[in-house]
Amino acid sequence: MTAEPPPTLVVRGLTKRFGGVTALSEVDLEVGRGEVVAIVGENGAGKSTVVNVLSGMCRADGGTILLDDVRVRIDSPGRAHSLGISTVFQGLALCENLDVVKNLFLGREIGSFWMDESTMERQSTQLLRQIFSTVSRVRDRVGDLSGGQRQTVAIARTLLGNPSIVILDEPTAALGTTQRMQVLDQITQLRARGLGVIMISHNLDDVGAVADRVVVLRHGRNNGVFQVASTTAEQVHHAMTGAVPTRSLFGQGRSRGRHQAG
Ligand SMILES: Nc1ncnc2c1ncn2[C@@H]1O[C@H](COP(=O)(O)OP(=O)(O)OP(=O)(O)O)[C@@H](O)[C@H]1O
Ligand SMILES: [Mg+2]
Repeated sequence: MTAEPPPTLVVRGLTKRFGGVTALSEVDLEVGRGEVVAIVGENGAGKSTVVNVLSGMCRADGGTILLDDVRVRIDSPGRAHSLGISTVFQGLALCENLDVVKNLFLGREIGSFWMDESTMERQSTQLLRQIFSTVSRVRDRVGDLSGGQRQTVAIARTLLGNPSIVILDEPTAALGTTQRMQVLDQITQLRARGLGVIMISHNLDDVGAVADRVVVLRHGRNNGVFQVASTTAEQVHHAMTGAVPTRSLFGQGRSRGRHQAG
């Protein structure tokens, strides 16, 4: 039997309070290289709070975070970025009036007095190709792109700086079927590149399609960790809510490799 490589990110006992509200209580989480871990839970379960702590947007009150076995403090978004943790927040935070290149390099422009536009343009095309994005004209305004294409620009942006962990908060919310499939496909590309991916989702079909493991949060606590390949959606739903649904299983349209959509 070969030993498993240690997980890239290990979170232990993460606790976060907002005044009298305990948003997270002793939460554990592990993400390995080339692994997609979904975090699911009902509204208020604490999902975004985990994202915010790991991306340096807010500080935890307790717990430890290890990256490649080294304990780290993530006390600012800049620190998260320099540690190789890159996040796509649910609102995407793209500037609609700027083109794709400017959005990708916003705040991280190449060049000194003069921007090195041709290098940024070339790297933008390469970044988008890496995740098989359908965005081909990098001088188009982001406001003219479809919702799915905007999501792919936001995903491509995370790859700047060679992160080891990418966090996606509700990456497929509000997308139509084709665009959803494209974004799910890009998540499999991130995994194929050896990144650890944390995906927050309300959609158990999407979780079943791309995640390797599912971490369930309930009322700010861990309430089960499941291997997708050997778990039914019912089991996950039950852990999320305590209720038994009538819907069927994971496994429809599961995307292990690349499937070109659109
Ligand atoms: N900045 C804040 N100030 C006060 N309470 C907060 C703050 N952020 C989160 N909370 C509370 O912490 C708990 C967890 O919230 P969180 O946003 O992490 O849940 P979530 O799982 O992301 O929910 P949703 O699915 O609705 O996005 C909730 O009770 C929420 O009201
Ligand atoms: Mg949330």
